[in-house]
Amino acid sequence: MNLKRFSAAAAVLLTISLAAGEAYNFYFISDPHLGDEKSYNTAKTKENPFKTKKNTARADQNMATFDAMLKDIAAKKDSSSKFIISGGDLIEGGCTSEKVHEEQLSKYLNKVQKAVALPLFPVNGNHDDWGLGGPQAFKAVAWPFIRKQTGKPLASTKAAHYVVHQDNDVFIFADYHTVGSGWTDFVLKELKAIKGTPRYVFVIVHCNIIPFPGKGNAAIRDELAKFNGFILCGHSHQNQVYVYGKDGKTVTQVTVGTCFSRPGAIKANRDQQKYFNWFIGHYCKNPAKAEEVRREYIPYTKDFVTFGGAAYARFDVSDNGVELSYQASDLTQPPQKVKLR
Ligand SMILES: [Fe+2]
Repeated sequence: MNLKRFSAAAAVLLTISLAAGEAYNFYFISDPHLGDEKSYNTAKTKENPFKTKKNTARADQNMATFDAMLKDIAAKKDSSSKFIISGGDLIEGGCTSEKVHEEQLSKYLNKVQKAVALPLFPVNGNHDDWGLGGPQAFKAVAWPFIRKQTGKPLASTKAAHYVVHQDNDVFIFADYHTVGSGWTDFVLKELKAIKGTPRYVFVIVHCNIIPFPGKGNAAIRDELAKFNGFILCGHSHQNQVYVYGKDGKTVTQVTVGTCFSRPGAIKANRDQQKYFNWFIGHYCKNPAKAEEVRREYIPYTKDFVTFGGAAYARFDVSDNGVELSYQASDLTQPPQKVKLR
């Protein structure tokens, strides 16, 4: 797939104004929903109403794929690999107690970090803090973990928001799921605070921004477009690229589903535009609202890419551009490279 055509106008601007920087790569995983069987609360009680359902079996089955993927990343990383990002739902959650939730989160954050031997930058997914004492456990475990990885305090006292600078590139990590996190305001504030001309700007948040309604989403999209920026997210359990382009500027959203991806997305290999249209209707239940979203996104969203099956992503970043490579987590398919810039 070649996205160059669509962003040709923006590329001229980029060539003139981009700050130069080093070449490096990083990895991106999302939504493995890991967990040990004994950790799940399978019987709903008054004390613990957070009962896990069929997800229990799913999470255990995911472990083999996840382990294969970690081995693959460890084998493929090189001296230019800088970090690995978790786009959320690292664990399934819905645990038997706050203490067990803490143990699960700690176990899998450390497992990834150790296996890959790179700094791990996670964002909060709806499962990472879901369940009895989940929010408290997330704060007790993930917050200090992130501080240790970045070597600095979080950017907020309300939620696990933070910013990482790698060379001339900016990575803004938003916690969308902690109650009262004010994540859209945080991302907008950080985008507006960017000084000078960064080479590339990335926003990492568990939920998709494209093609979803909401003032905050639209404001982030439009502010990020000023940098021809990138959104990395999970939640939708599919490996997809959506490029939103308007007025010569682009926002590129990349999702991954590390241990499984939606059958709908796999079938959509045949007709991406049709799937995008369905995707809007699937999440926007109100028909009038869905039509409004279609008008807002369909004319401007192009260069769809879908990779079927479980996958993780590697990003190669340099002055020559940004290349995404979807890699099958279970090693059953060859990688698919996509030139994003
Ligand atoms: Fe998920």
